[in-house]
Amino acid sequence: MRLPSHKLLLAAGVIGVVLVVGVVAAIADNVGLALVCVLLIQSAALLAVVDTRRRQGGLADTVNDHAASLKRVDRTIANVSQRVVTEARASDKALRTELAASRADLRDRLGRTRKGVERTLDLRVQDIEAMIQLSDRFELRAAMPPSGRWALNAGGLLKLVDLVERRPIRTIVELGSGTSTLWLSYALERRGSGGRIISLDHDPHFAGITRAELVAHGFADGPAEVRDAPLVDGVIDGHDTPWYDPASFHDVEAIDLLIVDGPPMASGGLARYPAVPMLLSRLAPGAIVVVDDAPRPDEQEMMQRWLADVPGLTRVDQTERQVFLALGE
Ligand SMILES: C[S@@+](CC[C@H](N)C(=O)[O-])C[C@H]1O[C@@H](n2cnc3c(N)ncnc32)[C@H](O)[C@@H]1O
Repeated sequence: MRLPSHKLLLAAGVIGVVLVVGVVAAIADNVGLALVCVLLIQSAALLAVVDTRRRQGGLADTVNDHAASLKRVDRTIANVSQRVVTEARASDKALRTELAASRADLRDRLGRTRKGVERTLDLRVQDIEAMIQLSDRFELRAAMPPSGRWALNAGGLLKLVDLVERRPIRTIVELGSGTSTLWLSYALERRGSGGRIISLDHDPHFAGITRAELVAHGFADGPAEVRDAPLVDGVIDGHDTPWYDPASFHDVEAIDLLIVDGPPMASGGLARYPAVPMLLSRLAPGAIVVVDDAPRPDEQEMMQRWLADVPGLTRVDQTERQVFLALGE
């Protein structure tokens, strides 16, 4: 409740005094003074009514101002809410689009990974099957070093062994010694009718290991001979990558099977390219050239160059990792 202002209290006090004076004047038969008091009280009442109306008018203005402010606040809230809703809808749409794209990308990657894993498993199974066939074919006299990774994979070894057993191959040159040297030795031994393997190795340490393995398997006197062949510069004009020293094969002629599995890629670009240009004159008519690691870009380019440059050289077979080329008869 609002307390009356000091002006109202003063007015009420004055009216009270005038009323008392008026009553006393009336009792004293002072009609004139009593009438003056009545007039004063009426004037005060009139002034009070006028003042109340005026005050009510000010209050209405204030109420109107407040109502207008409230409307403005309402409109602002409505505008802000509208903007928030619009922006929320837009970012929701953008997020959904992004999410859908991420899902599609993830599905795609998972699909490719699954295919890659299935392919790798298939190849591993094929290699296991090939290794079983290889092991069944020979009475191995010692443990075999691993296949795959740095060595030819079992599928490639089986193909090579088949080739040696079915064809009258007499001279094999292998660039890069290792597990393959042993399996080829077993193949020549089982087939009979002679034949030899010249295996060149740039690394004396691994050349020594292969020689020791050959001895362990009873091949101390052949048919394989591992030769140290350091990598030297400038074997071919314009080819900067070093390759096997030609002195290491100066006496080798009529090669029936050339296995290109060295030098290592780390020795430089197109590391194995010189094999055909350097040994072409020593290949027998109908010779087979086997390229390991054939899917690699360098090996692909190397083969394209050979096929373009050597008349009569054609692609005759391939596996997952090897390509077989043959020289015309
Ligand atoms: C691609 S590998 C050649 C392997 C061989 N043709 C084979 O299939 O077993 C190239 C080089 O690996 C090296 N090497 C040989 N035996 C190895 C071994 N046990 N571990 C790692 N590297 C070896 C040799 O220096 C060889 O020239």
